[in-house]
Amino acid sequence: MHKILEKRNLAPKVNSFTIEAPQIAQSAQAGHFVVLRLSEKGERIPLTIADWDRQRGTILLVCQTFGKTSELFNRLDVGDEILDLLGPLGTPIEVKNYGTVVLVGGGVGVPAILCKAKELKAEGNKVISIIGAQRKEMLILREEMASHSDEIYCTTDDGSYGRAGLVTDVLKEVISSDKPDLVIAVGPVPMMRAAVNVAKASDIPSIVSLNPIMVDGTGMCGCCRVSVAGETKFACVDGPAFDGAQVDFEELSSRQRFFREEEARSWKGEHQCQCGK
Ligand SMILES: Cc1cc2nc3c(=O)[nH]c(=O)nc-3n(C[C@H](O)[C@H](O)[C@H](O)COP(=O)(O)OP(=O)(O)OC[C@H]3O[C@@H](n4cnc5c(N)ncnc54)[C@H](O)[C@@H]3O)c2cc1C
Ligand code: FES
Repeated sequence: MHKILEKRNLAPKVNSFTIEAPQIAQSAQAGHFVVLRLSEKGERIPLTIADWDRQRGTILLVCQTFGKTSELFNRLDVGDEILDLLGPLGTPIEVKNYGTVVLVGGGVGVPAILCKAKELKAEGNKVISIIGAQRKEMLILREEMASHSDEIYCTTDDGSYGRAGLVTDVLKEVISSDKPDLVIAVGPVPMMRAAVNVAKASDIPSIVSLNPIMVDGTGMCGCCRVSVAGETKFACVDGPAFDGAQVDFEELSSRQRFFREEEARSWKGEHQCQCGK
């Protein structure tokens, strides 16, 4: 059992949780995630490890309500305990001095670039962050990102904060002014795909963090299959970070929609998982 020590509301339906998890905190690295389960018959969902404190033995998770399990998690409060927390999972990104790195985060992709910004900055990179959301109140972790970035740009779709428009509009400008050595993009699939195309047009390598449906998170079920450079990869063990230019985003989008009907029924309470019965 893992106790929730702090909870902070970041935006409508988005909370951050500081959770007691000393063993995970000891070995967490940028790019890792956890799989959690809230009850015996509960679904398992993956969440990025946004930050960690090895001394305190805690990890930071950020969760946006999308359906049943993320809603149930967001209802938990300080003092509540999480039944299972498996991690750290995945292959961390290579943290080294690339030169200038642009980190692009959209929505709840921002937690996934927070620890990357922190580690890449500590390695001596010039870190330029671009974070975006639909509107001002949805923009999360702005101050935390600013503290680990040399420059930060914010965009909102409706212009209620920062630049009006998309993160990729700013990315184009930063690429022409700073000639970065690497672009890392994490967020909704269309955003990552667009960021990769912008980077590719200037021959800049890119890394994206993929978010297919995951079940065990350890390479056993095959649920998280993605195609990268024409090869099948398991995002939970081979990723979730991959060379953006090699990802089949079309396939990823369609696989993400695969269980929409079941998810909707589960949310309405019409479907109860019978696995393991
Ligand atoms: C490596 C990784 C890291 C992630 N990190 C974060 C994070 O830091 N913060 C955050 O808010 N969200 C994160 N997600 C997405 C999060 O796991 C889903 O929002 C969550 O599983 C939705 O479950 P649900 O029951 O609430 O919604 P559902 O109604 O079951 O599903 C809503 C949508 O969420 C996605 N989804 C559903 N089940 C899963 C699953 N088991 N694995 C992956 N996606 C699923 C599907 O696209 C689905 O259509 C991450 C996903 C991955 C793969
Ligand atoms: S989640 Fe089962 S193999 Fe990746």
